[in-house]
Amino acid sequence: MNLLITGACGHIGTHIIKNLDKIKKIKKTFLIDNLQSNRHNSLFNNRKKSRLKFYLDDLRDNKSLKYLGKVDYVIHLASMTNAENSFKEKKEMYKNNLSCFKNIVEFCIKKKSKLIHISSASVYGKQAKVVDEECSKEYLKPQSPYADIKLIEEKILKRKKNKLKYVTLRFGTISGVSPGIRFHTAVNKFCFLAAINKPVTVYKTAINQYRPYLSLNDAFRVFKFCIEKDLFNNEIYNILSGNYTVKHILNKIKKYKKKIKINFVKSPIMNQLSYHVSNKKFNKLGLILNDNLEKDIKDTLKLLDNI
Ligand SMILES: NC(=O)c1ccc[n+]([C@@H]2O[C@H](COP(=O)([O-])OP(=O)(O)OC[C@H]3O[C@@H](n4cnc5c(N)ncnc54)[C@H](O)[C@@H]3O)[C@@H](O)[C@H]2O)c1
Repeated sequence: MNLLITGACGHIGTHIIKNLDKIKKIKKTFLIDNLQSNRHNSLFNNRKKSRLKFYLDDLRDNKSLKYLGKVDYVIHLASMTNAENSFKEKKEMYKNNLSCFKNIVEFCIKKKSKLIHISSASVYGKQAKVVDEECSKEYLKPQSPYADIKLIEEKILKRKKNKLKYVTLRFGTISGVSPGIRFHTAVNKFCFLAAINKPVTVYKTAINQYRPYLSLNDAFRVFKFCIEKDLFNNEIYNILSGNYTVKHILNKIKKYKKKIKINFVKSPIMNQLSYHVSNKKFNKLGLILNDNLEKDIKDTLKLLDNI
């Protein structure tokens, strides 16, 4: 079977590439990225047996993808992904992410490819004890243009549900190390600042807010599960390893980096909301996610040893 990974040079894509041989069904993998993030290093030192073929291409262009033959599965990761910057890059992000997405959806319909669509747990945004996939519309309150776009993508897929097979995964914030690691999301950013002895910047309102986090290892186990179990039932699933507060994360960092300074700042994503995201719906399928955030933090800090 053939797999296409879009946005393959990013944080999540490179972790999948590294582990591809664990998905026995996949015999050949096509990778697409426009390298807008300049991570050429993501393409270094791959193994021959992974049978990879890389295309430098921009998915906004509807002439892209024309060169591909049969593709059984698509993992669509190509996006602009900086939620905080999305306020000032709103127009560009809408254009980029939605054009890529629509292009991929049309491709999947035409080629009968099964689609893994990555949404985000940031589509939730109302004070609540627990939110789940069945919650009423009032709980779906994206707090940034980035999260708005994710919700639009989910709705587009719902409208097309009779034309293609897909699964939407609402990922928590990723932790962990990959060849294309990036540092603009919470855990990694905190680790980086702590490692270079800079004050860790924390949004004033965020310190005790619960948010969902997802270890890269768990993310990979979910991709493998969807492909092996053929989980393309046009459903939405929350995907997370656990719910934590920023304080919990800082305390885990402090175990390995004793002295860290904290600087409280304002952010465009300032709100008083705290909520747990439920992962029951996915757990019921039989794959329990519980990878260790602390190990991810340790590994990330280790990358920056001796700096
Ligand atoms: N990392 C997280 O914490 C997290 C959490 C929830 C959801 N997600 C989602 O998972 C997906 C992958 O995230 P990531 O962390 O790997 O992001 P990333 O920013 O590391 O990688 C995205 C990749 O997409 C590529 N890209 C962007 N626009 C493109 C275009 N027009 N054509 C071709 N390639 C393009 C970029 O060059 C980059 O390599 C995204 O949809 C993101 O929103 C990520």
